[in-house]
Amino acid sequence: MSVDIAPPITAPTLTSNPLRTGLRIERSPAPCAMVIFGASGDLAKRKLLPALWALNEAQQLPPGFSIVGIARSELNHEQFRQQLRDSITHDLTVDPTMLDTFLQGLFYVPGTFDQPDMYQRLKQVLEQIDRERGTAGNRMYYLATPPSFFPVIMEQLGQAGLVSDAATGAGWTRVVIEKPFGRDLATARELNRVVHGVFDEAQVYRIDHYLGKETVQNILHFRFANAIWEPIWNRRYVDHVQITVAEDLGVETRGGYYEEAGIVRDMLENHMLQLLTLTAMEPPVSFDADAVRDEKVKVLRGMRPFDLQRVQSDVVRGQYGAGWIGGKAVPAYRQEQKVAPDSQTATYVAATFYIDTWRWEGVPFYLRSGKRLPKRVTEIAIQFRPVPQLLFGPTDPNVLAMRIQPDEGISLQFEAKVPGPTARHRPVAMDFRYGTAFATAPAEAYQRLLLDVMLGDSTLFARRDEVEAAWTLVAPILNTWAATQATDLPNYEAGTWGPEAADQLLEASGRRWRRP
Ligand code: BG6
Repeated sequence: MSVDIAPPITAPTLTSNPLRTGLRIERSPAPCAMVIFGASGDLAKRKLLPALWALNEAQQLPPGFSIVGIARSELNHEQFRQQLRDSITHDLTVDPTMLDTFLQGLFYVPGTFDQPDMYQRLKQVLEQIDRERGTAGNRMYYLATPPSFFPVIMEQLGQAGLVSDAATGAGWTRVVIEKPFGRDLATARELNRVVHGVFDEAQVYRIDHYLGKETVQNILHFRFANAIWEPIWNRRYVDHVQITVAEDLGVETRGGYYEEAGIVRDMLENHMLQLLTLTAMEPPVSFDADAVRDEKVKVLRGMRPFDLQRVQSDVVRGQYGAGWIGGKAVPAYRQEQKVAPDSQTATYVAATFYIDTWRWEGVPFYLRSGKRLPKRVTEIAIQFRPVPQLLFGPTDPNVLAMRIQPDEGISLQFEAKVPGPTARHRPVAMDFRYGTAFATAPAEAYQRLLLDVMLGDSTLFARRDEVEAAWTLVAPILNTWAATQATDLPNYEAGTWGPEAADQLLEASGRRWRRP
């Protein structure tokens, strides 16, 4: 008698083609020079130069890596090096030999951004660096200036012959453009037109530092490296999603910038929509830059547009008044430096978004962000639908909270039986904490992003169609607010969770904001 033996059940074949899985384990960029336009500015000093120094300490910079600072002050290379030395040597653990070697790669070109002659001097310095430090014509231009200078810098780079393309074989050229990318759809389109007069899309890196945060990248790993979430990540199981980006800081010294920007341009159009698209996107076919960005753009295109009526019913604007933060009295927004005493600028926004797709139809995504809220916290909370029958009395919802910052981690809230003879239950949480699970502290967002530019990996940067889709979505909010005066501003006290109208936005459907 013969016995049929069933073949053992095996796991499905996993895709192991590195081109598809996008494995990025060993990554070392080719030697290159980075030119920082606006080298004496806040961004260069607070973020870029410290990130470059940290990359250097971690030995992640390529050999011969060089930095050319450009700003108006009449400094020479040595004086520029000394400035950086002074800012770094506050840290007593710095290795002096390592610092000397790093500073040898620092150069400076004084001038204004509209001066053709400055670009000729820059060209000479870059050629000298190529010869002496082996950077082989590879250049990264970083526009760390106020946005009004972006067009002139790009045009001048083009005219000075400082932009190579793949065809010339003269090394690579990449340009990094800081946010805000335009101030509305028309200006973003115009900026894209200027950019593309000089650079190909593959050379352009529109930066959003939220994408450089480990916890933000982990949204994709959490979703797509685990099998258990996908079946419930949709309208059948998710009741709604809350995305909170709260800051306890006010506008500090940036009143002038903020008066022009406001919360929608400063946070919603970029950082918050990035968090939303990563949370809502479909699994990409691979982890390559275009595959990932295609899916993000699809989310933006699937979002229900705002019209006047929806701006009125689904969007709340706020501005902080005086109040208390951490036991200290803080001024109202209208009392901050360089802010108009009757300013209409919003420092808080809450809005309900819908994504009209098979996955998300009918699931509200509630987003809120504000300055001078009680604490600094960013989180994405997925709240699941209630159980169909209340066998044990009322239950709290299951909530999966991804804590982006601080206290980075992920927790899942569920009901558990309270020990004892009665059938009572209460919510408890399973909690993952980065700090406990991984011994190393996460790198600063700019470190990761600068390295990606050197490597030519644009996955974590916004593509042209992505920024245009984001502006298209928020345009009706900006237009309606610009056209209608809010008579109730300021409408929340510093140190509180925003205007009452934001609570009502959720209460109308029986929901509540979380208190993270
Ligand atoms: C910047 C905004 O892009 O992001 C600031 O211009 C804001 O207003 C900051 O404070 C928040 O970034 P982070 O990394 O501190 O959450």
